[in-house]
Amino acid sequence: MEKYLNFKTTGDFQKDIESYFLVYDKLDKYEHTLDVVRELHNIEKQFGSIEQGSEIACYCHDLGRVVDKEEIVEFCIENNIEITDEEKQMPSILHQKISRIIAETVFKIRDENILNAIRYHATSRRQPSKMEIEVLLADKLSWKEEGYEKLVKEIREALKHSREKAILYYLTDLELNKETLPLYHKDSREAYEYFKQEI
Ligand SMILES: [Fe+2]
Ligand SMILES: [Fe+2]
Repeated sequence: MEKYLNFKTTGDFQKDIESYFLVYDKLDKYEHTLDVVRELHNIEKQFGSIEQGSEIACYCHDLGRVVDKEEIVEFCIENNIEITDEEKQMPSILHQKISRIIAETVFKIRDENILNAIRYHATSRRQPSKMEIEVLLADKLSWKEEGYEKLVKEIREALKHSREKAILYYLTDLELNKETLPLYHKDSREAYEYFKQEI
């Protein structure tokens, strides 16, 4: 599994991100990454500013997607990444933890805030930081998969009020659909409970 951590960076961060995805033949994930960065800039335009570090987190959030499906669990075991029982049911969710390790090891990201925004971009968690909220929203707003058009539109609508309202809209949608979700992650459930009380 060392192959995913042996990549040599040049110091040109954006170029290195592109090369990383291309070396592992994941052009689609790279294009998605650019979409997420674009959505983050839309959020910046809308609110006048974003957290310092959110852009780096967006560039790194899906680095873990380079790891082949069959190798996810092995990668986690080798790199001491905890796999909870529910995550065993849907190992693809582990890509958020893997992204953090790659950002830290390969791209030398040391800022805990950025690393957590990467680590929790898919599930969120109780009391997430502002950066965690921005990165999660930029990711969801960039979804182009069929069946998500309505949800994306509604999140965008809620975002007109605030970032917190937008994430609560997304988390509420998970809560309402929990019976049919392949995984309703404990961290997402706790994030929902938190925002429901806070907003
Ligand atoms: Fe992701
Ligand atoms: Fe993503």
